[in-house]
Amino acid sequence: HFSENGRVTWKAPSNIALVKYWGKLAHQIPANPSISFTLDACATTTSVSYQKKETKTDSFSFKLLFEGKPKEDFKPKIETFFNRVVEYVPFLKDYHFTIETSNSFPHSSGIASSASGMAALSLCLMDIEKQLNPAMDEEFFKKKASFLARLGSGSACRSIEGDLIQWGEHPQIPNSSNLFGIKYPFEVNPVFKNYHDTILLVHKGQKQVSSTVGHDLMHGHPYAQNRFHQAYDNLDKLKPIFAEGDLEEFIKVVESEALTLHAMMMTSMPYFILMKPDTLEIINKIWAYRSQTKVPICFTLDAGANVHVLYPESVKEKAIQFIQDELVAHCEKGHYLCDRIGTGAKKI
Ligand code: PMV
Repeated sequence: HFSENGRVTWKAPSNIALVKYWGKLAHQIPANPSISFTLDACATTTSVSYQKKETKTDSFSFKLLFEGKPKEDFKPKIETFFNRVVEYVPFLKDYHFTIETSNSFPHSSGIASSASGMAALSLCLMDIEKQLNPAMDEEFFKKKASFLARLGSGSACRSIEGDLIQWGEHPQIPNSSNLFGIKYPFEVNPVFKNYHDTILLVHKGQKQVSSTVGHDLMHGHPYAQNRFHQAYDNLDKLKPIFAEGDLEEFIKVVESEALTLHAMMMTSMPYFILMKPDTLEIINKIWAYRSQTKVPICFTLDAGANVHVLYPESVKEKAIQFIQDELVAHCEKGHYLCDRIGTGAKKI
């Protein structure tokens, strides 16, 4: 029995890609496979209240509250998302929805909330759908939530579960799919279990290049095919690295992926430089510190100027000391966020 009204709440984390998704085909199909650490502290909490419409209409009816206040500029994104997913969750047109959403990280921190936001919203929709079909099993629930999230924002499909999630068909990865993320199916050394991600907020402004524009730049890009092949190869390389806990080789793959992502933006038409002088200062300091101390600390980047500093639990004290002494000075207003690898979304 499907209730006429109710309310569901989910909290979904952000994620940080190790092998980057950059470039897509129609229907949010990735041009190359990717893999990410699911984060923990950086998350979006979304509640969806639903109430049956008196008469069925052919349009969506929803209100949107962001951190308690109506937010008009998010509405087109939700509208687009609903249009893409309605064929898979047809009840969307039968209800009025109130969507209340908030982030654990400060807004305008330059941290994208599309992955955590679309994941949380998709989980809420699946929770409503589960009432139509109470026999639905856990595995299907998560798979379809990831499938729906992908249609909101590609990388969001990697924010349903933890702690290492792979997305995109890869011939050597069983059950890998272009349609949803899967838990990495191979052995992972415990050194990766409590991995840390300290996010240095170098530039808190709006992104200069939206990821939609960014993915589009890969169409007709002179290096696109080589880049896509490289992502496949990097996933191959990561298999023994994850099994053996080879941090030296891990760092090579991860830093190269970050710089390649930015190289793609520098060599597209139009071209962009998304790093700031402080981004480069931080990278150089990480390299100098690592070569002096042999502490296995490295960086990765999103499509922006902020730096994600990655390190294992075993060097936590040293890494935090180094970050505070040398890197925080390069952050806007000294702001940074301490996060770590997490276990995935939760029902609240
Ligand atoms: O999910 P989108 O369309 O916002 O794209 C995300 C792209 C990167 O964050 C740069 C890379 C990734 O794999 O997360």
